[in-house]
Amino acid sequence: MCGIVGYIGNRQAAPILLDGLSKLEYRGYDSAGIAVYNGEKIDMVKARGRLKVLGELSHGGEILPGTVGIGHTRWATHGSPSDKNAHPHFNKDSSIVVVHNGIIENYLKLKKKLERKGYEFVSETDTEVIAHLLDYYYTGNPLQAVTKIMHRMEGSYALGIIFRDHPDEVYAVRKDSPLIVGHTDDGSIIASDVPAVLKYTRNVYFIENEEIVRLTREDMEFFTVDEEPIEKTPVKIDWDINAAEKGGYEHFMLKEMYEQPKAITDTFSPRIKNGKIVIEELGMSEEDIQSIRKIMIVACGSAYHTGVTSKYIFEDLARIPVEVDLASEFRYRNPILDAGTLVLVISQSGETADTLAALRESKKRGARVLGIVNVVGSSIAREADNVMYTWAGPEIAVATTKAYSAQLIALYLLAMKFANIRGILPDEGLSRMLEELRALPCQVEMLLNNKERIQRFANRYLAAKDIFFIGRGIDYAISLEGSLKLKEISYIHSEAYAAGELKHGTISLVEKGTLVASVLTQRELYKKMISNMEEVRTRGAFVLAVTNEGNTEVERVADYVIYIPETNKYFTNSLAIIPLQLFGYYISVGRGCDVDKPRNLAKSVTVE
Ligand code: G6P
Repeated sequence: MCGIVGYIGNRQAAPILLDGLSKLEYRGYDSAGIAVYNGEKIDMVKARGRLKVLGELSHGGEILPGTVGIGHTRWATHGSPSDKNAHPHFNKDSSIVVVHNGIIENYLKLKKKLERKGYEFVSETDTEVIAHLLDYYYTGNPLQAVTKIMHRMEGSYALGIIFRDHPDEVYAVRKDSPLIVGHTDDGSIIASDVPAVLKYTRNVYFIENEEIVRLTREDMEFFTVDEEPIEKTPVKIDWDINAAEKGGYEHFMLKEMYEQPKAITDTFSPRIKNGKIVIEELGMSEEDIQSIRKIMIVACGSAYHTGVTSKYIFEDLARIPVEVDLASEFRYRNPILDAGTLVLVISQSGETADTLAALRESKKRGARVLGIVNVVGSSIAREADNVMYTWAGPEIAVATTKAYSAQLIALYLLAMKFANIRGILPDEGLSRMLEELRALPCQVEMLLNNKERIQRFANRYLAAKDIFFIGRGIDYAISLEGSLKLKEISYIHSEAYAAGELKHGTISLVEKGTLVASVLTQRELYKKMISNMEEVRTRGAFVLAVTNEGNTEVERVADYVIYIPETNKYFTNSLAIIPLQLFGYYISVGRGCDVDKPRNLAKSVTVE
């Protein structure tokens, strides 16, 4: 979603802003802009479209000389994607300039008040309210004006602000929208996400809610909303800078798919010690694990799909009742939680607004919250009672692949550990499963190496109108993710159905040639699936099957079969998803879509 970069130092600001914003492109945006103080006044260039447009308009930043600036990539919420709605936004005499991530929920009320006081608005955004509100409260002291507007604004915001009359300072503010600051060799930088600063610094400060930072060339000071100074310690970021670059692959998505064996290994191997699963960060004693009465899983998007998969595993393997919910639904539905409920909050970014709100709601209701998070130091990681990191490394492509795979592994580990401690999975059974877990990275690699075959198949469906995915049990969860991967990057309409549900309506959509991708990895459900495949095939569907090696019976009812290697029945998602990811990827490539930055989507959804 929107991205912020700000710089104050001894170098030209504009190239640093453009470079930093380019590292945030993956978050999704539809317009961009930068503003730089030129020694006399603040200049600004902004435009609808990709950063390339902004780069061309500003001649790579050359037409904006100066060493203090802020920049932004905007993902439209209030007001369409347009030049005038792009950030930064000015106050009336262009002496204050603001970039903003988040949503000011009471902006209409504030806007009306400001209009009554004579302020004129040139955009439809909520952000412009901030610029005028600052103008209204500014009497020469920027910190005071910032704290005053914080008392008036409701909603979420990360802000970068420059006051023309205080040109040796940049202000950064955060409430419920991430922001980090750090020292570079020759100045200070702010950004909404780590990749934007990696080139300039490894030591960053995570701004907490309702904190303000005043950055100068040499220094940075932190304040509360009451203008009290605060001490903070920096966090060292260990990410490999190359991990955030494409490294010879055509797209980040392909690169990240190829990083899945490593993401899987990195997530399980440090947690297996002497044949046991040791999750130190779990913070739960054996008694705590034994006394779990219910697991509530809350997440969005693909993370939700890993939750759906794990429901089948927690219930069947560990015999713990599980509810899975979309965070956006959960947070407003008055959920029933108590001290016996373990809430699992799953998130790659650790910043998804609904997931974060669900976490807070759960804590308020007395449940213990375990975060399964990829981005170290993110809001969910910091606010959860305990956090289990997925070690997938930075994920740039909007469509998640390696973080999804790592989430599955974290969930398998938890389910196996819980089952073992609760006496349902004996040690020998656990050892066997751990062997099967260890085999997954090689098996994933094997499937990835089969990519040409999937590409050839995908090329036949570039013009498809609808594609359906069906499965039962865990295979239904795999279908949900396979379908999402396809539609989000190829823009082909696609749905996933529990195969048994098909004849309650959806089957009427099946026509001659409709592609129905059928996933059947659960041995005890083979026969049921084969019947469902027959039903669609008789109605003209072209049936693709993804199934276990050896299940040749399927060839009778499928037009095309992709086999996955033998694994534990609970781990099949980790393998079956690989050809489906490749299928979505190659359809997207074949249709000439923007694979890594699909239209309208954002990597990290920081608004609800
Ligand atoms: C966005 C991303 C998805 C992701 C979802 C949840 O929609 O495009 O790939 O699954 O958000 O994000 P999270 O960071 O919480 O896992």
